Amino acid sequence: MRSVPAAVAATYAAVDSRAMRMIDVAHERSRTLGAPNSHHFNAAGAALPTSSVVEAVVEHLHREEALGGYEAAARVRDDVEGIYAAAGDLLGCAADEIALFDSASTGLRVLIDAVRPAAGSRIIASRSTYVSHALHLMTICRERDVELVIVPADEQRRVDLVALEALLADGRPSVLTVSHVPTSSGLVEPVAEIGQLARRYGATYLLDATQSVGHLQVDVAAIGCDGLVTTGRKFLRAPRGTAFAYVKRSFASALLPTAPDVRGSEWQSEGGWDTTSLARRFETWEASVAARLGLGVALREANERGMAATEAWLTAAGDDIRRRVREVPGVVLADPEGSRSAIVTFVIDGMTSAHAASRLSESGVRVVSVPATHGQWDLGDRRIPAVVRASPHVYNDEGDVDALVEGIARIAGEVRAS
Ligand SMILES: Cc1ncc(COP(=O)(O)O)c(C=O)c1O
Repeated sequence: MRSVPAAVAATYAAVDSRAMRMIDVAHERSRTLGAPNSHHFNAAGAALPTSSVVEAVVEHLHREEALGGYEAAARVRDDVEGIYAAAGDLLGCAADEIALFDSASTGLRVLIDAVRPAAGSRIIASRSTYVSHALHLMTICRERDVELVIVPADEQRRVDLVALEALLADGRPSVLTVSHVPTSSGLVEPVAEIGQLARRYGATYLLDATQSVGHLQVDVAAIGCDGLVTTGRKFLRAPRGTAFAYVKRSFASALLPTAPDVRGSEWQSEGGWDTTSLARRFETWEASVAARLGLGVALREANERGMAATEAWLTAAGDDIRRRVREVPGVVLADPEGSRSAIVTFVIDGMTSAHAASRLSESGVRVVSVPATHGQWDLGDRRIPAVVRASPHVYNDEGDVDALVEGIARIAGEVRAS
């Protein structure tokens, strides 16, 4: 077990206490209608949106009601363009390197399919890979002559950089796919170090940032990935059914979608078409404009709040919950040692995680049970059938955290007494 050096801990504490002051929790609660309704610790599932996000969606549905869908869309064309710019601002890339999707799984599928891993090539995936993406990768590898390698994890369950380098160094064409923060623990992968290796050995590097965008600072240039996919509804606090990807300019222009759509391609002759758009070549024409407008508002709000402050606040909140949960008798933290994020996972001795989540919900504490079927390469590999996952956001106040910890202590105590 590695401990954090005192100087580093002091730096964390200084940064964290500054950040705690920079996030105005009272303000966040006042603009989050759902905040007082429960103790909501499910940002990693779907976070509570702000009222402005919801208003943007509802307003557009009324616009569609009044004008018709296409006519309403024409009225908000500039706002829709603004979504690409806001996503680019958040990730540190250009607006034309952004493609909008309906889910992270769709984005990951479309990009991997466009890469067309060739027979004899290799897909290297992190142990932290999410179920839907893993199933797609396994399907590709079963149906084509493509090898799937799950890169070994180090002591902290992160990608083992030495093992990864040894794999990449053999020079085989490789697509490397990594989940920045998994669904099943608070682990944060060393994404920039992985990016350096991918560049050094010429591997294509796709990052699943579904649990990190809106949560941690994510700068695609610093990470050095070719593509990144995320969803709207989690730490970004956008509506369900929204997602987007960063597709690096040189990567996008070298790839053709396997299913070109009228959105990004032009059918010019009997048998010919042209794909001129950049990242948008991966989009489909049909989409919920209302939900996307909500995404635009959520992106602007995340940019305004500032990702440095948000990351520091959320990370400190995760640390605080982890510290308090660790002290509860009969509760075992399931996060790998050194995890620093706002995803906290644990198991209550003698109780299934599904039952624990449902017992907590009786006192208004919203957490979820994440089963191994959502991450066999992580939970399955660790022989953990399921974990309880608590994931705070900036609208959670001390009362919420007290309710979470007291609820856990109460049910763990009941199990011990029975
Ligand atoms: C790490 C990770 N990747 C991908 C996904 C899939 O996202 P979506 O449901 O938007 O397809 C999830 C969903 O929980 C996730 O946690």
